[in-house]
Amino acid sequence: MAHDRALDLVVFGATGFTGKLAAEYLAARKDASLRWAIAGRSKAKLEEVKRALVAIDPACSAVEVIEARSDDPSSLAAMTAKARVVLTTVGPYAEHGEPLVEACVKTETDYVDITGEPAFVDRMLARWHVRAEAARIRVVSCCGFDSIPHDLGAYYTVRKLPSDRPITVEGFVRARGGMSGGTWHSAIGAFSNLAELRKKKPKVELQSRKVGGLRSGVHYERRLGAWAAPLPTIDPQVVLRSARALAEYGPDFKYGHFAQIKSALTVVGGAVGIGALLVLAQIPPAKALLLKVKKQGEGPSEEERKKGWFQVTFLGRAGDVEVKTRVSGGEPGYSETAKMVSESALCLAFDRDGLPKRYGVITTAMAMGEKLQERLEKAGMKFETL
Ligand SMILES: NC(=O)c1ccc[n+]([C@@H]2O[C@H](COP(=O)([O-])OP(=O)(O)OC[C@H]3O[C@@H](n4cnc5c(N)ncnc54)[C@H](OP(=O)(O)O)[C@@H]3O)[C@@H](O)[C@H]2O)c1
Repeated sequence: MAHDRALDLVVFGATGFTGKLAAEYLAARKDASLRWAIAGRSKAKLEEVKRALVAIDPACSAVEVIEARSDDPSSLAAMTAKARVVLTTVGPYAEHGEPLVEACVKTETDYVDITGEPAFVDRMLARWHVRAEAARIRVVSCCGFDSIPHDLGAYYTVRKLPSDRPITVEGFVRARGGMSGGTWHSAIGAFSNLAELRKKKPKVELQSRKVGGLRSGVHYERRLGAWAAPLPTIDPQVVLRSARALAEYGPDFKYGHFAQIKSALTVVGGAVGIGALLVLAQIPPAKALLLKVKKQGEGPSEEERKKGWFQVTFLGRAGDVEVKTRVSGGEPGYSETAKMVSESALCLAFDRDGLPKRYGVITTAMAMGEKLQERLEKAGMKFETL
């Protein structure tokens, strides 16, 4: 496998908004022993990013620049063959993502991304899991705010509960942050593809335990003193996938995923807004107009990101044992996402001897679990039992 490659990791998409933040995060660690590269489709833009990295740490003059395009398989294979791990922020993933997964499987290279697009993850699972498992590589999607706090948070919570009886966990998300053009384009793309969204999820590892979503509508959650509205993100799908594979989730596991909201009015406003976007994204001219609202490559300013934060509170129960836990951190969508995906890539590159021997298209809890949690805690994210 990929132990002795010229590079520890490559950031593919380093010229984009989130990719540049990930590259800056890695540069700011000032680890002269890290052998890494930035990659993308424009050499000139990559050189500009490299100058910014050198300004953070002069040792970044050794960072390699690799030209590669998602529509040029040979450029992807040449890139993935050089590295232990590829970190990609090239999205929308449903559009650009699969050729890189294919290249990683063929060159036996570990992979992390920050997608939040369910259709893409389902497709990679259906098409590449078996071959990735046979190649003994880890293809780990959703290594950003989608879905690390929720996946590792649920995993942290179940480990506080006995695993010999049915377990229920509910996650309640509160966050403040902006949105980049890349995220906006990916979200509109996902909304416009209702048929793929509605498809039944592929289930790869069926163990002896029962796993399912908790059916619950908008409700007042007296244990938190707030309203809770079901959050239709990729996160519950990721949590349930981990639960299907790992014994810590008990014989019968249920998960509910909610936005924690102060007032009932906000719940109504949010539902109307999402409903309107879903409808508009089905109509091609309206979709084209929506895409113009935010330009790819742009995102919230450093000042805005400094004001951002997130908090996910988990209420867990196994029989009469209850636990309340929390995962929290800074601005979720970009600053913390850059941190989370970078630490995931570093974890795969450097902690591999201590990682579970699980391979294929797998989740963060399955691939890295406690090792990644430790890294994220060292990097300032909090995992607490309240
Ligand atoms: N899960 C989460 O929490 C989370 C958080 C943030 C972002 N995201 C997702 O991450 C993705 C990136 O977001 P962003 O805001 O960083 O987007 P962005 O600024 O638009 O960056 C996209 C990057 O992809 C590159 N790219 C596009 N097409 C390419 C191709 N054919 N070959 C090679 N590179 C190509 C772009 O290169 P150029 O510079 O040459 O155009 C750019 O580097 C989106 O899908 C977004 O939804 C997820």
